[in-house]
Amino acid sequence: MMVNAELAKGIYQVGAVDWATRDFHGYKTPRGVTYNSYLIVDEKICLIDAVKAPFAKELLERISQIIDPAKIDYIIVNHVEPDHSSAMPLLMQAAPQAKVVITEQGRGEIIKYFGQEYDFRVVKNGDSLSLGKNTLRFVPLPMLHWPDSMATYLEEEQILFSNDAFGQHYSTNFKFDDENDLSELLYEAKKYYANILMPFSKLVVKALDSLGLLSIRMIAPSHGLIWRSHIGEILSLYKKWSTGETDPLVLVVYDSMWGSTEMMARRILEGLTAGGIKAKLFRMADSDKSELIAELLTARGLICGSSTLNNGMLPTMAAVLYYMKGLKPLNKSGAAFGAYGWAGGAQADMELALKAAGIELEMTGPTLKWAPNQDEIQRCFEFGREFGQKMLNR
Ligand code: FEO
Repeated sequence: MMVNAELAKGIYQVGAVDWATRDFHGYKTPRGVTYNSYLIVDEKICLIDAVKAPFAKELLERISQIIDPAKIDYIIVNHVEPDHSSAMPLLMQAAPQAKVVITEQGRGEIIKYFGQEYDFRVVKNGDSLSLGKNTLRFVPLPMLHWPDSMATYLEEEQILFSNDAFGQHYSTNFKFDDENDLSELLYEAKKYYANILMPFSKLVVKALDSLGLLSIRMIAPSHGLIWRSHIGEILSLYKKWSTGETDPLVLVVYDSMWGSTEMMARRILEGLTAGGIKAKLFRMADSDKSELIAELLTARGLICGSSTLNNGMLPTMAAVLYYMKGLKPLNKSGAAFGAYGWAGGAQADMELALKAAGIELEMTGPTLKWAPNQDEIQRCFEFGREFGQKMLNR
């Protein structure tokens, strides 16, 4: 027997918890992943979003505990990315009469992914679908974060099925926000936003405006926990994150070959501390870039350091700066520093990469040959203090 959470009368979460996955296309998931799917039992039977293919059997077992999957009338595909749709071929075999409700963009994606023409019902903004007592209204959210993305709103119960938006990669055996540790949940929501939605922040601002017109009693994403007690908090955090509001926080992100750049990083951190600003140190040889990006979302300053290798920055720093460029962080000030041997290169390389990521160069960081002497160590400290004060005054 499997336990399916009931959101309201006749509305169930029948998705799967993937406790073991630790990597979601490069995003590290130390707390696992979930693929939520929602079953609405009314005069018409409707399933909102499916799961990743390896969990298709579990989805069907969960549905079967409530109704025969063959009775499903509608399958709403809010988003075609395979974590939600790759169970479709098996699901459609079990529910052959189901109509697939989807945006026009999603229809094309499904056909190309699975080579199948299902019985599609294409919807656009504001279209609705009556299930009997319940009415679904569709809210396309193009490029949040794929062209096909959409949310589905259940009018009578005021539940927003938001798909990726408001999600978290978070495995727990409970299903609702108030059943779990709130700070852990909010951190996972922040990490998810930073790594998945950050490049689309301007569109998130618009989406929040249109969703603001709805009365929302519950937000049921397709990853992680369902929001029913902390809706105000998550909506206001989404507003903060999407508008690029920052906290007085500076990240020192570096890698070091023989310890000189590391000595500089630590002394810069001391300078930041002396200036009274919160700061965190990440050595990229050992740090997870998804966690760094979660911190970057609301950080005001980013100081990058690297030893010079082959006239450029270390590959670990290049990887994280390249990842950042795609994520288009908002409202950050940066600087670069590092040690070199006979010729430099890393600092200029990092400055170019920071600019390419849309990060404004606030100051020129220290650079030095071989290992730092006492004067150079002091210069790192002063640089940290000055940078921190600029960030506090910004
Ligand atoms: Fe959870 Fe964009 O898929």
